[in-house]
Amino acid sequence: VTELPIYTEAEVAKHRTPSDKIWVSYKGGVYDITAFVELHPGGDKILLAAGGALEPFWAMYAVHNNEHVLEILEEYRIGRL
Ligand code: HEM
Repeated sequence: VTELPIYTEAEVAKHRTPSDKIWVSYKGGVYDITAFVELHPGGDKILLAAGGALEPFWAMYAVHNNEHVLEILEEYRIGRL
């Protein structure tokens, strides 16, 4: 069984721009969402979460509270915290 790598929050925080890649965390998962940013239905707002946790933003934008959104997110998983 191949385990995905473990990253620290500090490592996630280094990835906030397209050239550095854009990483986020969510419930212990780490995601490289660089390729999804331009596909996001909510536009550039997604960049507010760059380098950090999705939870505070998704608490404000309840549109993300469904299975379809989580399926999209899982496509971009690279590791865990
Ligand atoms: C809408 C995915 C991060 C703000 C959406 C929708 C998806 C999505 C699939 C459409 C939902 C629907 O209409 O059924 C994602 C993913 C994210 C992410 C995968 C992270 C990897 C964020 C963040 C913010 C945000 C961090 C705000 C800071 C919004 C807003 C909409 C939206 C405002 C509504 C757009 C509209 O309908 O006009 N997002 N989102 N999203 N998202 Fe995100």
